Amino acid sequence: MNIILLGPPGAGKGTQAERLVAGRGMVQLSTGDMLRAARKADTPLGHQVAAVMDSGALVSDEIVSALIDDKLGSMGDEQGAIFDGYPRTAAQAESLDELLAAHGRELQHVIELQVDEDALVERITGRFSCASCGANYHDKFKQPKQADTCDVCGNHEFKRRPDDNEATVRTRMEEYRAKTAPILPIYEARGIVSRVDGMADMDEVTAAIEAILAGKG
Ligand code: AP5
Repeated sequence: MNIILLGPPGAGKGTQAERLVAGRGMVQLSTGDMLRAARKADTPLGHQVAAVMDSGALVSDEIVSALIDDKLGSMGDEQGAIFDGYPRTAAQAESLDELLAAHGRELQHVIELQVDEDALVERITGRFSCASCGANYHDKFKQPKQADTCDVCGNHEFKRRPDDNEATVRTRMEEYRAKTAPILPIYEARGIVSRVDGMADMDEVTAAIEAILAGKG
């Protein structure tokens, strides 16, 4: 099964993708994570995209589609893909169709996480992760069980994304409204869009997504 999780910054795409990976053995294809990995590894690509990402604007369609092509090529046929943060423009949606066909895959679901934008700023500016294993936390919604200690690996150092400040978040939301939300009708015309209340509790969101994937949504 191949699915797209669609929604503005902070809607919970990454959170829900992680759960699908854990529960269903699917593979998360997050272009944001791939670009951050390139930056962390100090690659030429990382240098090329750093300023754009920190401004909240979108990097070029060619770069992200090439990343997705590589990742699809490395996956086993039996592994389902969760597209998280891709596609984000009409050109990327077109590329995804071509890439899926080239890799012998089909798209079954596009799940839109519907959220209240004002709440997203709080979600994003409160987000942090373990500096060692990358486990995700939030100042208010998901604190480590023991203060300053990662639940997963026991590390004591945490980090925040440079683009998780209020001004950049607003730009990221404008990009979403202008370039990403308009791709939904492409998938609506194919009858594969489902909507989930992304403001609900994380477990409820997961249950709603599972119901859709099980054909009961
Ligand atoms: P990217 O990394 O994709 O960021 P984003 O789309 O802005 O999404 P986020 O990761 O911020 O949010 P999310 O929906 O995954 O929310 P999360 O689950 O973390 O992109 C970053 C940048 O890279 C872009 O700005 C662009 O420059 C570039 N880029 C990436 N892909 C690109 C592409 N395809 N084309 C061009 N450029 C691209 O949740 C957020 C917080 O809320 C967490 O702390 C979580 O714990 C909490 N939370 C989640 N769900 C709930 C809930 N139900 N209730 C309460 N809290 C919740």
